[in-house]
Amino acid sequence: MCGIVGYVGREQAAPILLEGLSRLEYRGYDSAGICVSADGRLQLSKSKGRLQNLIEKTENGALLPGTLGIGHTRWATHGEPNDINSHPHLSQGGKIALVHNGIIENYLELRQFLQAKGVQFASETDSEVVAQLLEFYYLQTHSVFDALYMVLHRIEGAYALGILCADEPDRIYAARKDAPLLLGYGNGCNFIASDVTALVKHTRTVAYMEDGEVAVLTRDSIRVFDAMEQEVQKERHFVDWEISAAEKGGYPHFMLKEIMEEPDAVRRTISPRLKGGRITLDDLTLTRQELEGFSRICIIACGSSYHVGVIGKYNIEKLARIPVEVTLASEFRYCDPLVDEKTLVLVISQSGETLDTMAAMREAKARGARVLSIVNVVGSSIARESDDVLYTWAGPEIAVATTKAFSTQLVLLDMIALYFADLLGRIAPERYQALVDEISRLPEKMEAILQDCKGIQHYASQYFNHESIFFIGRNLDYALGLEGSLKLKEISYIHSEAYASGELKHGTISLVEQGTLVVALSTYSPLFDKAMSNVVEVKARGAQVLALTTARHRAEMEKNADAILTIPETEDMFLPSLGVIPLQLFAYYMALQRGCDIDKPRNLAKSVTVE
Ligand code: AGP
Repeated sequence: MCGIVGYVGREQAAPILLEGLSRLEYRGYDSAGICVSADGRLQLSKSKGRLQNLIEKTENGALLPGTLGIGHTRWATHGEPNDINSHPHLSQGGKIALVHNGIIENYLELRQFLQAKGVQFASETDSEVVAQLLEFYYLQTHSVFDALYMVLHRIEGAYALGILCADEPDRIYAARKDAPLLLGYGNGCNFIASDVTALVKHTRTVAYMEDGEVAVLTRDSIRVFDAMEQEVQKERHFVDWEISAAEKGGYPHFMLKEIMEEPDAVRRTISPRLKGGRITLDDLTLTRQELEGFSRICIIACGSSYHVGVIGKYNIEKLARIPVEVTLASEFRYCDPLVDEKTLVLVISQSGETLDTMAAMREAKARGARVLSIVNVVGSSIARESDDVLYTWAGPEIAVATTKAFSTQLVLLDMIALYFADLLGRIAPERYQALVDEISRLPEKMEAILQDCKGIQHYASQYFNHESIFFIGRNLDYALGLEGSLKLKEISYIHSEAYASGELKHGTISLVEQGTLVVALSTYSPLFDKAMSNVVEVKARGAQVLALTTARHRAEMEKNADAILTIPETEDMFLPSLGVIPLQLFAYYMALQRGCDIDKPRNLAKSVTVE
């Protein structure tokens, strides 16, 4: 959730830290702070609100001299967002400055322990406990390294830590457990960061810290130690994308830029996997025999990634005839899940760091399940812990609301469905061929939708004042509605619900009254007539209907709907891949009309690394 950056080198650290934080702000943005070490002094500057406040306060870092420092952008968990609760936290004696991402679960007990020893706390946070505990042990051991291991043995929970000690003005310490932390290898300088976006301007050579590891960075070296304090050699990875991928490139918002990038992102995801008219999943080690041995598939994910799973269930069951269950990761861990070695668990995550998803995956693995994950961030924790990983090649996604990552996850899951159906011999060769051919046409069809978004903009300007909106649909359209509704509520703050159309009459239709906006998703041909009956049903109760359908059903839909958006024809299973784009744009333009902070919606953060 929070963003961490650290720099040790020859240049002035503060401007580098602030620039790094600007790239991490999407991880949390209720306050920010930096600490720079110079001549044995730890200089701290923190500010509530957006990073811009801190940039102004420090005159873009000019007020803080020194070539070594740490920075943090916060998404509050313990303690309201204010200057005091912001990171970095300074220990009582001023020896230690610390930034933290994650949650220290036993912080109250540790706080009481330290208070009994006379330590006074400045903030309400769990993070300050770590800074104070570290100083407490440091004063006894006179070694930050030893004291840090003592702290790590006492704290429980999740953490990525960046640490400075006033007495060691040439180094940064870092530690990690269940929260992402990267090491960046520069030329005469080194870095820590919670996300690669903060590093690519300076270096593309990174290493991923593992749970339990401690790193010591000076400007000329990075040494890493495992939980047993043994030095380990880290494998270095090359990040192969340009800094421009994480910039707005002329668009007013990352979200709009990322929607516009969807055709290319999907192309990058499918092209290397389509060879000679067939789907080849080179990274997948699963054999036909192993696949036959699974009695079911269990999909685990959160938020939009969960919606990809809901769509995937329809397509996998239909094509490969394997029973699929889709479970929210946050529920899965605590429901004594029925998974074993006969279960294939499909984990879906853009960030690869979502704590609920990671914990659910570990639970499934502990029960013997085999894990195949679909992940966007290379080298992320979920990717590294899965038995097999298939990467989506969406590139860095900065806007909190996911768009291009969603589309790449969806097309990849559809490819998996087809691959499984073929491997098990459950699809006729001609049908397989037709579907594979259609996959390669999807990017073009997506481009066609994006070329004409004026209608969507127009409807948004008409409907943005609505305070409650319903998305209805059946089958794949219902699953699509879940995503359309989430997108709308997260960035425009309009209350909205997604319902399976057939369920309306079982209760929810009581909420439909004169003027209620209903977005009727009617792209799924086999159930078009039923979708139409539902439109008539809500119209009869006074609803205004904005329908989404395919070109061939437009004329029919015009008889009842007040407004219509159309998508090109495609094979049924791919309809959500096309249908989601108008819904993303609708949410975007609605939020724009309402003057919302689209890329950084209130209370949210991109990567949810707390439970
Ligand atoms: C969607 O727009 C979200 N921001 C959110 O629901 C997201 O999909 C969810 O938190 C899961 O994230 P992940 O894919 O990185 O695991």
